[in-house]
Formats: sequence, structure tokens, C-alpha cells
Amino acid sequence: MPDWDAKYAAQEAPFGDAPNEYVRRVATRADFSATSALCLADGDGRNGAWLAGRGLSVTGIDSSAIASQRAQARDRANGVSAERITADIADWESDGRSWQSVFLIYLQSEPEIRARALRLSVDVLEPGGWLVVEAFARTPAGFGEFGPKDASVLYDLPEIERATSGLQVIEALEGRVLLDEGVRHQGTGNIVRYAARKPR
Ligand SMILES: C[S@@+](CC[C@H](N)C(=O)[O-])C[C@H]1O[C@@H](n2cnc3c(N)ncnc32)[C@H](O)[C@@H]1O
Repeated sequence: MPDWDAKYAAQEAPFGDAPNEYVRRVATRADFSATSALCLADGDGRNGAWLAGRGLSVTGIDSSAIASQRAQARDRANGVSAERITADIADWESDGRSWQSVFLIYLQSEPEIRARALRLSVDVLEPGGWLVVEAFARTPAGFGEFGPKDASVLYDLPEIERATSGLQVIEALEGRVLLDEGVRHQGTGNIVRYAARKPR
């Protein structure tokens, strides 16, 4: 697993200050009315803080203590409040809590962690709730201009759909997208975008 504390210590806002474009697009859909969000692997909080600014009650989780501190600082600077938890998805438990949306944005991790994150997302979603995923993908076109070069940390749509069976798929997209997110996400990436809802 990469040393995310070191990466955040070396670089302020590595993915920029704006929310991820897919997060913004799904959360501004006419049919998105979630009032709470669990942001798994929320890093330095760009997505969670933006969702909190839209009035959602946000819980952000990340295994990097430095990222969580930065997320808290971002929340304060933005005048929002969010619950920030430093924890590893490998063993974090929701203790029966549930959310109306879950965002899983660029958690590039080994298959067991990805599977746990996706299954956990389904488990904690309230009926009618949204799961939103964007991540680098394993595609027939090979690696994108940037992103992990280790195929074992990449997603594909069948993997996501298997792990989230029972959800109603709203969008399941895979392809090349020009990303413009801070210094680390610059250029054309091969990615998946996935949005699905838990049936009521
Ligand atoms: C590429 S960054 C994306 C951060 C954020 N989602 C965003 O879009 O700005 C990946 C994040 O996943 C976190 N992460 C990696 N493995 C994790 C794990 N097992 N549990 C919790 N967080 C993890 C890292 O600390 C890092 O902040």
C-alpha cells in the first residue's frame, strides 16, 4: 500500500480543491436528494467538504492521519462541519449506522480492500440511497497516460457490479476521460464511473 501520509505531507491538495467532477455531476442530479453521505477514502476532504457545503451530513473516512487533519482544516476554512474518522477500510465497522449516499472516489487498493469497500457501501446504504464510484480502471486499452501501473489495484465494471449486486445500476461507464484534478490527476485516465441505488 502506498504511504499516503508521506504523499500528503509532500503535497498540499494533491487532487485539487474542487470536488471530483463525477461527484459533482451525480450529487446535482434532479433525482439525487440524499441528506447524508459517507465518503470512503475521502483523502484531504475535497469531496466531503463540498457535499457538506450542499447541506449533507458528511462522514469522511481515510486511513491517512495527515489527510484527515487536512480535511478538518478544509472543513473549517469552508465553514462546514463534517465527521472525520481516521481508519482503515480493512477493519472499520459502521456499528449499525447507515447513510443515504456513499462516495468511493479513487480508492486504488488491493482486491480484498476494494471488495470490502464496495460491500460495506451496499450494507450501510439506506433504501433509495446512492453509491457513487470513480476510479482508475483495467481496460482493454491498457494503462492510461497516468494512474497506477499496477493492474492489481485497478477496477473493472464486472467486479463492481458483482460486489454491489442488489443495487439498481443508474450508470456504469468505462473509458478515457481527460482529468483535471490538482497536480496528481492531470491528463487522460482510463476510468470507471458507476452510480447505483439501493432499491426501496
Ligand atoms: C487517490 S486518493 C483519493 C482521495 C479522495 N477520494 C479524493 O478523491 O480526493 C486515495 C485515498 O485513499 C486512502 N486509502 C487508501 N487505502 C485506504 C484504506 N485501506 N482505508 C482507508 N483509506 C485508504 C488514501 O489515504 C488516500 O487518501
